[in-house]
Amino acid sequence: MKKKVIASLLIGSVAFLWAGDFNAQAEKDRKALQEYLEKKFADRKNANAFFPYSTKDELDKNFKWGIKGDDFRLGSYAYNIGGKAQYEEMNEMPPYEDAVDAGKELYENEKGIKECFPDPAIAGDYPKFVKGKGVVTLSKAIVSCAKKNNLKDWKLTKGKTAKLEGYFASVSKEKGKKVNIVIDSKEAAEAYERGKKEYYSQRGYLKLSCATCHVQGAGQRVRNEYLSPLTGATTHFPVYRLKWQGLGTLERRIKGCNKNQGETPHKPGSTWTSELLYFMAYMSNGLPVDGPDIRK
Ligand code: HEC
Repeated sequence: MKKKVIASLLIGSVAFLWAGDFNAQAEKDRKALQEYLEKKFADRKNANAFFPYSTKDELDKNFKWGIKGDDFRLGSYAYNIGGKAQYEEMNEMPPYEDAVDAGKELYENEKGIKECFPDPAIAGDYPKFVKGKGVVTLSKAIVSCAKKNNLKDWKLTKGKTAKLEGYFASVSKEKGKKVNIVIDSKEAAEAYERGKKEYYSQRGYLKLSCATCHVQGAGQRVRNEYLSPLTGATTHFPVYRLKWQGLGTLERRIKGCNKNQGETPHKPGSTWTSELLYFMAYMSNGLPVDGPDIRK
């Protein structure tokens, strides 16, 4: 009898240990990435090791050094002095405020939305891994709620979905919420690994990976733009882009970057896109939710 109790206690605690372990690799990845980026932007003195092709003048004048943790939510504006000044100018009259109000209106008045999302401060909790469904991004959760309620015109990339996300993000930010992506099963850990693999795979006729530009390339200049880092890449969505003249979701941004790397874009609702976003969002775990925001 006693033996049985001890055995079941043992099995119980082993199962408990496993449950806590599913994100172990992701935690290692997240910390290593942040450490690499912090080192890269720590000090002008180390700059030649990380930016062998940048001119001395550029490194002296265009970069802010000593960038850490939460700073990365600003993307390239964390370290690019000129870009940051433009960004602050744009933010004096945030062009997304009407969209956030419209999002609040949708939340309160569209049929069934509040029932799907009783708490609007959830921008940091997505994507989620749901057993039987796989990775569910916030855009996907919103669109499937709209479908369930027979609502029309809800897309994954922009429009009503982006406005509602804008409202969710602004409430989350106000409440001081942080990115909090959960990996708590073997299936979830596998989805994360697939997303990571895609992020680091070379694709398209240019044979580039996302990481070529946003990890090794973070801080390099491509024409007039400084490349943003993977840490903090998802914290501030939905984003108002000057190019779009409106709000767009992460799904919309990924489509654009697929084109940047010379690849036919994957579908916004595809498993490919959702698992990639699961990995990317995990890399920002612990950073503050900071959306909506503006980007060029
Ligand atoms: C050829 C280089 C290049 C490649 C490859 C590339 N991107 Fe980008 N990406 C850019 C540029 C340029 C921008 C705009 C400047 C910036 O914010 O980095 C950008 C912006 C982004 C942003 C917005 C960042 C922000 O702060 O709002 C995300 C997210 C992103 N890319 C994801 C990806 C993903 C995912 C992949 C791989 C599927 C990828 N990118 C591949 C060049 C690239």
